[in-house]
Order: sequence, then C-alpha cells, then structure tokens
Amino acid sequence: MSEPEPNAERAEAGDEAVAVPAQSAAAQDAPEPEEAAETAGSSAVTDRSDHLAGAQDAVLRADELYAGYIPGVNILNGADLYVKKGELIGIIGPNGAGKSTLLKSLFGLVNVRTGTVTLNGEDITNLKAHSLVSRGVGYVPQTNNVFPSLTIEENLEMGAFQVPGKFKERFEFVCEIFPALRERRKQRAGSLSGGERQMVAMGRALMTEPSVLLLDEPSAGLSPKLQDLVFIQAQQINKAGVTIIMVEQNARRCLQICHRGYVLDQGRNAYMATGRELINDPKVIQLYLGTLARA
Ligand SMILES: Nc1ncnc2c1ncn2[C@@H]1O[C@H](COP(=O)(O)OP(=O)(O)OP(=O)(O)O)[C@@H](O)[C@H]1O
Ligand SMILES: [Mg+2]
Repeated sequence: MSEPEPNAERAEAGDEAVAVPAQSAAAQDAPEPEEAAETAGSSAVTDRSDHLAGAQDAVLRADELYAGYIPGVNILNGADLYVKKGELIGIIGPNGAGKSTLLKSLFGLVNVRTGTVTLNGEDITNLKAHSLVSRGVGYVPQTNNVFPSLTIEENLEMGAFQVPGKFKERFEFVCEIFPALRERRKQRAGSLSGGERQMVAMGRALMTEPSVLLLDEPSAGLSPKLQDLVFIQAQQINKAGVTIIMVEQNARRCLQICHRGYVLDQGRNAYMATGRELINDPKVIQLYLGTLARA
C-alpha cells in the first residue's frame, strides 16, 4: 500500500476560512478523486456511498452505529468507519463528539444498540473485549492505561497473558519500538513520566500481536516533543504491519500522518477523506482546525 504523503500545502491555524457551497448529495455528480482533492468542501460526508465503496475490503468496519451509556440517549448516531489492512486512520472531532465511545463500541466496551461491527467479514458486534483480543484487536484506552503498581515488565507480561510462550519474542518487538522500556523494565509504571507510561500502554497492547490497534488520544497530556515522538512511534508500529485506528485531539498532527481521517461530530461522520485532503479543506480548517475551533 502507498505511504501517506507529507502534507506539503499545510494550511496554518487561523487561515481565513473560505465560503464553501454545500456539496450536492447526488453521488453521480461527484467529481473524480483527483479533482475532488482540489474541490473545497469535498470531504464532507453527505451520504454513505464513499463508506460503502471503501469498506468492501476492510479489515475492520463499523456500519451505522448507534450506541450510548444512558437508556434512550445515543452518543453515536449512525457512525460509519472502516480501516483497510495496513492503513493508519485518524479520528478527530470536538470534545464530546463520541470519539472514545466509537473506539469503545468497536472493542465491546459500550453496548451497540443498532448497527454492526465486522472484523475480516465476521460480525463481532458486542463481542467482549477478551474475544476481540484473541481475534487480533488491541486497544489502548485514553486514561488509566497502565497498572501503576506493577513494573514495566509485569505490565507487558499482563499484556501477553493470552499468548503464553511468546513473551520473549513480543518483548523484543516492543523494545525495538520503545527502547526506553528495556532499560527501565524493573521500574514501576506509576513512577514513570506521562510519555513513558504511554509507551508502556501501547507496548502492552502490542504484546498480543494485534493486527488492528485502537489508540485513544495517545498524545494527550504530553509535552510537544513527546507528542511528536508518539506520532512517530505510531507510524513505526503501522509500518511494522499493524493496522491502526487513532483518535486524536492533536488533529493537525494526526492528519499529517494518517492515510485517511474522519471528523466525527455529534456521533456522526461529518468529513472523511485522506489526511491531506482534510487538512486542506477550508470547512474542516474553519470548524475543527483553525482558531475558531479552539475558541
Ligand atoms: N461512562 C459514561 N457514562 C455516561 N456518559 C458518558 C460516559 N462516557 C462518555 N459519556 C458522554 O458521552 C459523550 C461523548 O463522550 P466521548 O468520551 O465519547 O467523547 P470524545 O469525543 O472522546 O471527547 P474527548 O475529546 O473529550 O475525549 C459525552 O457527552 C460524555 O459526557
Ligand atoms: Mg475521548
């Protein structure tokens, strides 16, 4: 598969928003992909046709998910998502949009009320997390993602409990990506910095040799330098063959590295395109990346 290209024409935060005519819902009128990349507002999701076409050979897909925590209140309102083998996809969107809920619903941690989650053609909707781990899905939650009283090594052993006998091999793989973990293997996770804890959390999820890894805001709370490192590490993991779905509040950086991105708003898909298209879409800039988005 092709590498994500650097976003050479990156727009800066605060760029003046350009008025964009609403996109016609008629799929027949849709421009060809190259043309679409140049068309302002082209990444807006107006119907399910792009999803249905793209999701056909997906590793993991979610179709029209409705899910929530309180009876009668949906947080996801028909969200669609797919990821193809080898892709790194990003999910961005405002606080409370349902990004974490979407990841949790893929991983059996929130009850899906209607809609389906499919892994390699198998319906896995509402399967419990341990069943998903044994099917090759890994998940790193947004918070509380390490056992603070255990050492780094013990945290990684906990991650490997479903693959007995593979600890050494997986430990080597994880330490190639996170060399600091080898040096500090006897240190308690609770005594580590935020960046190191995030490495332990990602390392633990990698111990089961997942084919798809779900990362919820891996750069949250880290210094800019460490944030950058997390994005580089996510790319390294992806290049090692792991398909990644990454939720991020650092939207710009996420879109720079992802093959494709989704903007989730109020539990629905608002925009979906390549990272480059989204980062250059005036509407996405205005609503989600620019100064207005942070006001
Ligand atoms: N355990 C829960 N019980 C009840 N409501 C919840 C629970 N977790 C999240 N919510 C609500 O669901 C909505 C979406 O939350 P979610 O955490 O999915 O958003 P998010 O897009 O990940 O936001 P953020 O960028 O702040 O992480 C919010 O209104 C939140 O208050
Ligand atoms: Mg969240």
